[in-house]
Amino acid sequence: MQFEFFDKNLDQISTDASVIFAFQTEKSAQLLLGFKNLSKNLQKNIIKAVETANFTGKRGETLNFYLEETSLVKQIIILGLGKRKEFISNDLRRALGTLSKKLKGKVSSIALEIPTEDELTISKEIAANAIAEGLILGNYEFAKYKSDKKDNKKLSVVIISQKASVEVKRGIERAKIYCDATILARDLVNEQSAIATPAHLANLALEIAKKDPKHISCKILNRSQAEKLGMEAFLGIARASEKVEPKFIHLEYTPDKNSKKKLAVVGKGITFDSGGINVKTGDGMVDMKMDMSGAAIVLAIFSVISEIKPEFSVMGLIAATPNLISGTSVVPGDVVKALNGKTIEILNTDAEGRVTMADSLSYAVKNKATEVIDFATLTGACMVALGTDIAGLFSNNEDLSKKIKTAAFEAGEKVWELPLEKDYQELNKSDVADVANIASSRYGGTITAALFLQEFVGNLPWAHLDIAGPAFLSKPSDISGKGGTGHGVRTVLNLLI
Ligand code: BES
Ligand code: MN
Ligand code: ZN
Repeated sequence: MQFEFFDKNLDQISTDASVIFAFQTEKSAQLLLGFKNLSKNLQKNIIKAVETANFTGKRGETLNFYLEETSLVKQIIILGLGKRKEFISNDLRRALGTLSKKLKGKVSSIALEIPTEDELTISKEIAANAIAEGLILGNYEFAKYKSDKKDNKKLSVVIISQKASVEVKRGIERAKIYCDATILARDLVNEQSAIATPAHLANLALEIAKKDPKHISCKILNRSQAEKLGMEAFLGIARASEKVEPKFIHLEYTPDKNSKKKLAVVGKGITFDSGGINVKTGDGMVDMKMDMSGAAIVLAIFSVISEIKPEFSVMGLIAATPNLISGTSVVPGDVVKALNGKTIEILNTDAEGRVTMADSLSYAVKNKATEVIDFATLTGACMVALGTDIAGLFSNNEDLSKKIKTAAFEAGEKVWELPLEKDYQELNKSDVADVANIASSRYGGTITAALFLQEFVGNLPWAHLDIAGPAFLSKPSDISGKGGTGHGVRTVLNLLI
């Protein structure tokens, strides 16, 4: 999507449509932003249209009407932003996402004016950022396997902004980077598991590193190399897939100026989760190509990290393997030893993510991370607790959890903190090993899974995000279609800037 900048009024430029924002108010009267700058005649037209159409200004609601042929502005679209009192920047992102979906393939250019700080109570940079992200993300579609490709008319956007255009441009530039990363994550998640294999993810990691060898390095461990290191937990899950080589991916970003901080971002990388010997039901398995959504976040952030240029080191870690069924599968009762020396009794092969992550988290500690954040489509229980839109957040460090909540809020990615309840630790006890991979109670399954992961992070500040719900949607949201969302990518990027 192309963005151009223009320093005039909305009615002095010719595009397919001019977009005007409106808040929802109690009465029928609407507050129209950027409206004052328009010609009297246009203002009159707009007021009449809003009155006769009963337009209420709900978020995402649109009202279109066409002007005379001779007019420079051909079509006006009034776009609702919802209630002013409740307005947050994400409403703008969502409204523009909805608009983008409506325009897709139909309109090739729009013009809009960035509302002022007084009008919106958010800075022009944040507004421009949310507008551009909504437009780009709402426009996304995974059409790779559709023979009948719809008209892929590209949308170009003319941004009108008097003054403060440096701020506006910065907001849009950041949106482009964040959306590139989000779209890469979506593509990886939506790709079938026969293609998005561990080797595919590893090759992508190597390619990413090759683009900026000065700052990014990449190390890939295959089965025998991981074995030598002592990653029995990861390899236990990978044992069934004799023909699909597991890959342990270690990306590392080093800033120009030395820094003591090294953030490890760890992603669950199960390229398909059949459940293993504890096989899932058909319905439970159908979307399980998405079980590498955490890994997709890691690759996505590294794909743009050279543009973000964090001032500290960042490690990206993925233990990539499918969780399959074969004569060599791990079976209930098997015990494996993780890289940090702790033994795990595998009581249920469908709780595989935490077992593979025991090794990636241990690896982060061993390789001198100073802070760890992991993303995992870990538990169906998290969807029961928080629904499909909200990620579960756990942390042993208040500062870190606060930072993540702020970053997530600004990204428009919902998270809610759940407790690392110490009293539930004993539920993960095993009769024969240091810890069991499922709890003795099915209640609090998201918490016991997080407590399991905590066994492998030592005393490092650590946060865990269970993205089982928001990583993959079975019905579209305002800024995403069905399927992979990239939820989490923009939160992490906010932590890197
Ligand atoms: N990948 C699943 C979790 C999941 C379920 C993600 C649905 C997205 C949607 C995970 O590996 C799993 O199977 N978890 C089990 C854990 C149980 C065996 C303790 C679950 O949630 O049922
Ligand atoms: Mn599973
Ligand atoms: Zn899984």
